[in-house]
Amino acid sequence: MFQHQVRNDKVKLIRENPCNPWLNIVMRIDVLTLFPEMFESPLGHSIIKRACEAGIVNIALTNIRDFAKGPHFKVDDKPYGGGPGMIMAPPPVFECYEHVCSLSPKKPKTIILTPQGSPFDHRKATELAAEDRLLFIAGRYEGFDERIRIGLDAEQISVGDYVLSGGELAAMVIIDAVIRLLPGALGDEDSAKDDSFSDSLLEYPQYTRPEDFRGMKVPDVLLSGNHAEIAKWRKEQAVERTKKQRPDLLD
Ligand SMILES: C[S@@+](CC[C@H](N)C(=O)[O-])C[C@H]1O[C@@H](n2cnc3c(N)ncnc32)[C@H](O)[C@@H]1O
Repeated sequence: MFQHQVRNDKVKLIRENPCNPWLNIVMRIDVLTLFPEMFESPLGHSIIKRACEAGIVNIALTNIRDFAKGPHFKVDDKPYGGGPGMIMAPPPVFECYEHVCSLSPKKPKTIILTPQGSPFDHRKATELAAEDRLLFIAGRYEGFDERIRIGLDAEQISVGDYVLSGGELAAMVIIDAVIRLLPGALGDEDSAKDDSFSDSLLEYPQYTRPEDFRGMKVPDVLLSGNHAEIAKWRKEQAVERTKKQRPDLLD
């Protein structure tokens, strides 16, 4: 499923991705991380797994530590000026970045995961889904030496106003949200169109069988077979729900 890039051309293929010749939109996603193994299960199932197998997206994971030098392959160091924790040092990150950039002729749109970045949302996911190549850099410890932010041509993105232990989960959230939007990734192309946020509204209420569950009944309109009435009801419900749960979206 994923390619683990290892330096000195010792690329360890976990499973090679077949490239679907019928699909000319293939996105390449690179992740620079100290924990590539973390990605295998979350990205190895369901929609993302199928998108990889169908050649809609290729995901390559590269371990920043493979670019560290010295007897202990250190990637972090103490902060100048003192203070708690360790900081990710520029040399291995820059070397890893430059190596990974050179692996494909497509220039990547680079994203640094940081709680200090701009908040990730559906609009950003749509924007990223239009790129050919994305490259994520996941931080650890107390975060990045400032020169990593300054020196790389990167956008800083946060997945919310809280602090995670590392950028891996944040990268996975963004990768999942982006892949769902790629043409061919979902079984039914229309399902993303009706999803919450796609038209600044939350999704309308959904029901499946049984018609009556513990006295809670499916609304009559959904059983009517009248598609125009169903569409009207759904729109009204979506607006009502958004007003109640997320009025900020209507602004
Ligand atoms: C413990 S955090 C460092 C936080 C840093 N000391 C600060 O206050 O901004 C370690 C790494 O986790 C990732 N991370 C933590 N929270 C995140 C968030 N909300 N969004 C995206 N990445 C996050 C970043 O890559 C960060 O470098």
